[in-house]
Amino acid sequence: MLIRIRRAGDVRESEITPESLYLSRRLFLAGGAAAALGLSVNPARAEAALRALGPMRKSAFSTAEERTPYEAVTNYNNFYEFGLDKEDPAAKAHSLQPRPWSLRIDGEVARPQTFDVDDLIAKTPLEERIYRLRCVEAWSMVVPWVGFPLSSLLSRVEPTGKAKYVAFETLHDPMQMPGQNKEVLEWPYREGLRLDEAMHPLAILAVGLYGRVLPNQNGAPIRLVVPWKYGFKSIKSIVRIRLTERQPRTAWNVAAPDEYGFYANVNPDVDHPRWSQAKERRIGDFFRRDTLMFNGYGDEVAQLYSGMNLRRYF
Ligand code: MTE
Repeated sequence: MLIRIRRAGDVRESEITPESLYLSRRLFLAGGAAAALGLSVNPARAEAALRALGPMRKSAFSTAEERTPYEAVTNYNNFYEFGLDKEDPAAKAHSLQPRPWSLRIDGEVARPQTFDVDDLIAKTPLEERIYRLRCVEAWSMVVPWVGFPLSSLLSRVEPTGKAKYVAFETLHDPMQMPGQNKEVLEWPYREGLRLDEAMHPLAILAVGLYGRVLPNQNGAPIRLVVPWKYGFKSIKSIVRIRLTERQPRTAWNVAAPDEYGFYANVNPDVDHPRWSQAKERRIGDFFRRDTLMFNGYGDEVAQLYSGMNLRRYF
């Protein structure tokens, strides 16, 4: 994401997405330093500290595309609660204490409940789903998430007939999330979905990646993943889910309504006001590739938007 420090039109996409070059340089340097020490770069070392999740089944919804390496998934992040640079979350998110963690679900539901996240993980069948994450800044990754359908949790609280939307909130605690001391966004970070989007089987709550619990920088201990939407919808470190009658306010929509719509479906035909959305750079690739409508999940989700003007509801 980008904060508007310069005037609209001042920033060109070429300036803001040098990430594959940045990352390959970074990983190259890491490799070079390790080689100089006679070591091989072993991403598994970083993973080893995190608890393994399981058992889990493989999901038929997964893409067969090549996965983005663990190193890149966990060192190139957007998580403004820890700073605005891509490397800030990996460097600074150690102040977050993801366990124990409560998740409250209330609002227009018959059975409001508070879940302990580890209890939820222990009692819920987990799946590994390899999904693309496409950021509005025009880079993308392929991540083996571990999680479960959001719909399974929503069904447990029994939405009432009035529930039309689902509102999500990140933890609000500037001690754990020092970036919240700066007014870059309205805190806590908020996101929302229409109820039918939230009930779609592709929308998941992720509790891990690469077979282990989520690293803090990726939204520990529980986050949303909505693969047909731009990455900013996939809110991290969720403490509260509320079912509502009205469309909820969302952090990016409040910050810059002309740039970040409520729907935020990946759409190569609807540009961001300051750059094109027609292409993307898969992290690790040199050449850019065409962005696919709904991030390639159109067969599954296009019917959610039939009859809607996606330029207006961007
Ligand atoms: N959630 C919170 N709470 N704060 C954030 O700044 N950034 C969003 C989203 N969720 C963000 C967030 C954006 S812009 C993206 S692209 C994804 O997280 C990035 O997820 P990743 O770091 O796991 O790749």
